Amino acid sequence: MILPVTAYGHPILRKIAGEIDKDYPGLEQFISDMFETMYASDGIGLAAPQVNRSIRLFIIDGTPYGDKLPEMVDFKKIFINPYILRESGEDVSMDEGCLSIPNIREEVIRPSEVVIEYFDENWELKEEKYSGFAARVIQHEYDHLEGIMFTDKISALRKTLIRRKLQDITKGKVNADYKMIFPNLKKSKKLV
Ligand code: CO
Repeated sequence: MILPVTAYGHPILRKIAGEIDKDYPGLEQFISDMFETMYASDGIGLAAPQVNRSIRLFIIDGTPYGDKLPEMVDFKKIFINPYILRESGEDVSMDEGCLSIPNIREEVIRPSEVVIEYFDENWELKEEKYSGFAARVIQHEYDHLEGIMFTDKISALRKTLIRRKLQDITKGKVNADYKMIFPNLKKSKKLV
């Protein structure tokens, strides 16, 4: 089932997500719904708060980039209760987008390497190091579990320049080709 994506301004995107345990009801189905939602909206990663659940879980499928970026070959993963242990390497600037912030891309500076601890879908505890684009996607999705959006990390000038656009997204004044939950949608306004 495709789930609606929470839009910028939705309060759940600002909460610190909570850990889950093995008995979390419907986990397998929820993960499958997250993949379906991510593929339907052409995303490369999706965090649970983006589908309105404040739990520590995100998924990534970077395999479509596998032919260009070696770190993305076979990089399809489920991260449960993840914690970033270390960030290292040099700071790299690259433009990012987010399914919760349609039609906006901005340069974000992030460290090039990350060590992350998490449980996989079989509840096996992993500790892995990622670099390059894989590290960036992990950091972006991980931020969603900490209530952080990539627009928090852009320059003050860029923030000012996109302020109005972000307000519009919150109100539902945006064209996304997937279903979204808008926090400040005026009930009387009919969306086309
Ligand atoms: Co995002």
